[in-house]
Amino acid sequence: MEDLYRDQIIDHYQNPRNHGTLEHPDISYEEDNPVCGDHIRIDLKVDNGIVTDARFAGHGCSISQASASMLTEDIIGKSLEVVRQIGKEHVLEMLGIPLGPVRMKCALLALKVLKAGAYGLQGWPGDEEEE
Ligand code: FES
Repeated sequence: MEDLYRDQIIDHYQNPRNHGTLEHPDISYEEDNPVCGDHIRIDLKVDNGIVTDARFAGHGCSISQASASMLTEDIIGKSLEVVRQIGKEHVLEMLGIPLGPVRMKCALLALKVLKAGAYGLQGWPGDEEEE
């Protein structure tokens, strides 16, 4: 089963969905993973509270890029209210493989950028429960 998830991660890494930037995004935010210096930017178009388009750009390992790709795919068409509820578990479920603490930051970088951009939340998703 894990193999299936690994294949999916490689596919999203090699053929990223929604890669690039938007010309006039309503929301744009970017940030580094402090552990490795890799970088993700996410742009969103929002219409009437609904995410109508999303793009991500930047560089990083396969886990960080795949999770950004999956996340942008997941949020298009959802309301900001729903996007606001997306938590660490949702991203880890999409990735579907067990991750150690270092890879966890890779997996959650895109979610952190998304949340920080949209809601000004600065902490790493899930950190509050871990400490
Ligand atoms: Fe940098 Fe994964 S090693 S984001």
